[in-house]
Amino acid sequence: TDRFVASLAEVDAAAAHTHRVQDRTAEPAPGLTSGFGNTPDTDPAIGVNREWGRAILERVPDSVLGITTADAAILPDEAAVHAALERAQGAAAAWQELGPDGRAQILHRAGDALERRRAQLLEVMASEAGKTLDQGDPEVSEAIDFAHYYAERARELPGIDGATYTPADVTLVTPPWNFPVAIPAGSTLSALASGSTVVIKPARQARRCGAVMVEALWEAGVPREVLQLVQLADSALGEKLVASPLVDQVILTGGYETAEMFRGFRSDLRLLGETSGKNAIIVTPSADLDLAAKDVVYSAFGHAGQKCSAASLVILVGSVAKSRRFHDQLLDAVRSLHVALPTDPTAEVGPVIAPPTGKLREALTSLGEGETWVIEPRQLPEDERLWTPGVRAGVRRGSEYHLIEYFGPILGVMTAATLDEAIAIQNEISYGLTAGIHALDAGEIRTWLAGIQAGNLYVNRGITGAIVQRQPFGGWKKSVVGAGFKAGGPNYLIGLGRWADAPVTG
Ligand code: ALA
Repeated sequence: TDRFVASLAEVDAAAAHTHRVQDRTAEPAPGLTSGFGNTPDTDPAIGVNREWGRAILERVPDSVLGITTADAAILPDEAAVHAALERAQGAAAAWQELGPDGRAQILHRAGDALERRRAQLLEVMASEAGKTLDQGDPEVSEAIDFAHYYAERARELPGIDGATYTPADVTLVTPPWNFPVAIPAGSTLSALASGSTVVIKPARQARRCGAVMVEALWEAGVPREVLQLVQLADSALGEKLVASPLVDQVILTGGYETAEMFRGFRSDLRLLGETSGKNAIIVTPSADLDLAAKDVVYSAFGHAGQKCSAASLVILVGSVAKSRRFHDQLLDAVRSLHVALPTDPTAEVGPVIAPPTGKLREALTSLGEGETWVIEPRQLPEDERLWTPGVRAGVRRGSEYHLIEYFGPILGVMTAATLDEAIAIQNEISYGLTAGIHALDAGEIRTWLAGIQAGNLYVNRGITGAIVQRQPFGGWKKSVVGAGFKAGGPNYLIGLGRWADAPVTG
């Protein structure tokens, strides 16, 4: 057991070995030091990773996390909400005067601070948000990448086409619980880089994760008035916060209904929303079926399917529907997934965020017309939140399972006679976030690229785990609300400010 009492410095050193990845698309982009590993379970480094993971889980008690601020910033009433926003507005001028270079320096330091806190972030993601280590580790890397990436993009802003860029003064960031570090970090860092101050309200289920992330940024030199961490004593105060005229814009990642609700609070709200997804991977007869099975399983069940990017459907084209080989590979792989709490460093499918109720519970326990369980999900006795992954076949076009987002460990299988039919099945969904195809025929790939309606298209790859800079992330249709610039891409900061032509002189 000696190896499990490593110092945090040793833990961090071990982390440097965990970013090996299998395919090029999962490698970090040039200039970024980390990456969003997409296929961790067959990685030879996993042995290191698991030991290192155990060290984290056993060694980092709450008391060393230093996140008392998580509880300190609860806003009790409307006056406190107003005061926080006024503080942010008051701090904007000095933050903007620092200029892109000054802010970039702080953001690069923020990336380094996040790296130093990797162990803390993993612990808090596991304990609070149920993230398994294989999911949490690349998520920390993604957060770090956002810091370095946006720092550099900010330097480019003033020069674009000779136009003037005016940052927003106050950006409200309302991130989700499912990526409790990378999304709050990406949203916050982008706004800070652009020259805006930030008031962030982490998701209620993941407030400690948000707090550790924010502390890293404070430690790196972001002033506390420029970045304020808040929770609301009463959820009704959310309306006061979103609707306040002191808020210039809101970066929301969450459900489409939440975006609608925000707009209902204030009709002229400037909203940058990345919203829901219901995503499919199409597998054609030309595909490498082994690779397809692996990518479908990881995309469907990573983080127990609780990703807006997750594969909730696989659409089998033509003879693939009858392929014994694909069928057996897929089901064997699903059955072999290790379902456990993240205190077990070998867990591959962790808990859902809360004991399932409503629609998710229905999806886990009942079938639509014509559907059958190929693998029926099962609640494990040790924890109400742990479910073995389920696979349902016979999902019909236009059925609830076809069209609704569930956010849990279930995969639906649909069949199509032709690729065109498969594309039509996917395009019937009102969301359009991610989409995948497994095919080795170039003509099929071209047809799919031309016809599919989704923001992030992946060919012969899983459909989760977008890499900063390589795969800017964002959707269309009901997966996006507002300007629609992609996170982790070259235009995101452009979308956060206001542009005016340079005044004509002389
Ligand atoms: N950016 C996250 C992913 O690509 C949601 O999976």
